[in-house]
Amino acid sequence: MSTTVLTTVAAMRAACEAARRRGATVGVVPTMGYLHEGHRSLMRAARDACDFVVVTIFVNPLQFGPNEDLDRYPRDLDGDLAACADEGIDAAFVPTVTELYPDYPPRTTVHVARLTEVLCGASRPTHFDGVTTVVAKLLSIAGPCQAYFGRKDAQQLAVIRRMTADIDLPAEIVGCPLVREPDGLARSSRNAYLDARQRAAAPRIFAALREGVAAVQSGERDPRRIETLVRNSIDVVPELKIDYVDVREADSLDAIDQIDGPVLLAVAVFCGKSRLIDNVPITVAGGDVTADLGTGWDGSTP
Ligand code: PAJ
Repeated sequence: MSTTVLTTVAAMRAACEAARRRGATVGVVPTMGYLHEGHRSLMRAARDACDFVVVTIFVNPLQFGPNEDLDRYPRDLDGDLAACADEGIDAAFVPTVTELYPDYPPRTTVHVARLTEVLCGASRPTHFDGVTTVVAKLLSIAGPCQAYFGRKDAQQLAVIRRMTADIDLPAEIVGCPLVREPDGLARSSRNAYLDARQRAAAPRIFAALREGVAAVQSGERDPRRIETLVRNSIDVVPELKIDYVDVREADSLDAIDQIDGPVLLAVAVFCGKSRLIDNVPITVAGGDVTADLGTGWDGSTP
């Protein structure tokens, strides 16, 4: 099956409306392209649940800071369209920057307070406004739909859920599991930046998170002690420079003094020029500890 390429807002809106008119449910998978197994897992989830699936491919300049990697962000439209066809995706929405932002920078943006000020928002102060602005636009163009996002970007998912509820977008937000490489590294388009030494060092990030999980499983309930343990485990690898290691309440992302209920153990680490993020949601209920390690890891340790 081939995937129809839509390049204009009007064509995207019309395709989604036509699908709904014939009784089809619409699934939307927003991406910045350079599609990998993580994206494909979202595409499959949407394909399984919805009748008409659109993947959006747009490297959104508004979510990159002035000294970030917008210019060198990896792109491969032909490969992406082949992946879409392979996954049975009905349409790909591939707008230009001018099509989506006739005035750039746009005068209207969407800001979600508080949730965006911690974790990645602390080191990337304008990032989430860029994300919520483009996702609000994409979902309003698509109209009533299910929209699929990965738990790889746990804070992004929390922010998008909040935004969708707060401004009453007619979309149901679906969170999908984090997909890993066999050695545990979270799959990311930015892994393409890593040289061989950096790539060999990077699985330590997930190994350190697992050590944090093991400590919680052994009864540790002090978030600061878990953060220190994870930091120390990452710090032994010279290629890795920590941006943050943080344990927070899972949905509000509020700071906590005690691990109890659902929490998010999240990290951001510089590896060469790449900024890699990873997380493990952990739930403590009485003496029971469950952790969501995602999928794809083969159980090996670096
Ligand atoms: P991008 O980084 O291309 O990711 C698109 C979607 O794929 C996001 O929902 C992200 O969480 C998901 N994803 C990426 N890697 C994943 C992995 N290893 N496992 C599971 N899901 C994964 O996130 C963005 O683009 C942008 O911010 C966007 C939402 C498209 C707005 O521009």
